[in-house]
Amino acid sequence: SAAEKGGYDYFMLKEIAEQPKAVADTLLGRIDPSGSLTLDEVRITPSELREIDKVVIVACGTAFHAGLIAKYAIEHWTRIPCEVELASEFRYRDPILDGRSLVIAISQSGETMDTLMALRHAREQGSKVLAICNTNGSTIPRESDAVLYTHAGPEVAVASTKAFLTQLVACYLVALYLGQVRGTKWGDEIQAVIKDLSRISVEVERVLETMEPVRELARSLAAKNTVLFLGRHVGYPVALEGALKLKELAYMHAEGFAAGELKHGPIALIEEDVPVVVVVPSPRGRSVLHDKIVSNIQEIRARGARTIVIAEEGDEAVVPYADHLIRIPATPTLLQPLVATVPLQVFACELATARGNEVDQPRNLAKSVTVE
Ligand code: AGP
Repeated sequence: SAAEKGGYDYFMLKEIAEQPKAVADTLLGRIDPSGSLTLDEVRITPSELREIDKVVIVACGTAFHAGLIAKYAIEHWTRIPCEVELASEFRYRDPILDGRSLVIAISQSGETMDTLMALRHAREQGSKVLAICNTNGSTIPRESDAVLYTHAGPEVAVASTKAFLTQLVACYLVALYLGQVRGTKWGDEIQAVIKDLSRISVEVERVLETMEPVRELARSLAAKNTVLFLGRHVGYPVALEGALKLKELAYMHAEGFAAGELKHGPIALIEEDVPVVVVVPSPRGRSVLHDKIVSNIQEIRARGARTIVIAEEGDEAVVPYADHLIRIPATPTLLQPLVATVPLQVFACELATARGNEVDQPRNLAKSVTVE
């Protein structure tokens, strides 16, 4: 009913709008007044966490994209090697696991069969399993050693939005906590990022307030057949997520690429007026990557692409090559996906509407996939 949708036309719109609160709720009570993380609820002791020599993340779909982003954070802040694998592939390839591996299963519903089978396999090998889950008491957390709940609230739309942002928050919390417990050379950075994370919901809100041009752009592209997405570093999984949203909702051919791979093949797809969304890393910090992406944008535009550029406020280098410019607030490098994904969700939702598709119930899809 309209009341259930809180005045929005679709659950998806409501859930997109709820993201600042979902993010804030997921942080609530997990950062203590001194600015350190307290994740006692996870019930894996600090000494057990110091023993871990490998992290393996298993998940499907959007949750898998959260896992891909988590890898950058975990390896950077903890120096523990981290693999990310599609849950449906994991147990069929005889993965190397033992008692010192921490397996993280990410799932909104907590009922995804592929993810459940992957975690069962991990536990059989003696690994500890931590679930990141949005549904209290569901099967995946029940069968795990520990759980960190995301507090997104019920997600009804089949296309995941607020669950994804809260999965990212939970992954950052785990990465920062592991870094904090194990003590790495990134101690000061970890402290600073916890502070930025505690304020990030305000930035998500600011992004939501500036989405009208994105909706307008989406409507203007309703007759297109293909949209490509490019990103690099944590922007690469964001590109994959943008493409998945568009496939699910707009039933369009959409593909995400690592921008560095462009010249190894995908650039052949660039032709006159094909829309290409580019997620640009911050010009601060890892500026080498930024410069490389700017030259990618230049390259594809020279070949006729219509460039839709998502770039940090104040990034002037992209301006001459952007046919459409979407601004996002400056964040620490690793946190950028929390703000960069939001315009892609809005874009896909509006394109789906413009194409006359059923937004909350895309064809052929189920909210939770309880068969393998
Ligand atoms: C997201 O938009 C999808 N509908 C889908 O990829 C989903 O993320 C995937 O099936 C995993 O679901 P889960 O998080 O409930 O395990």
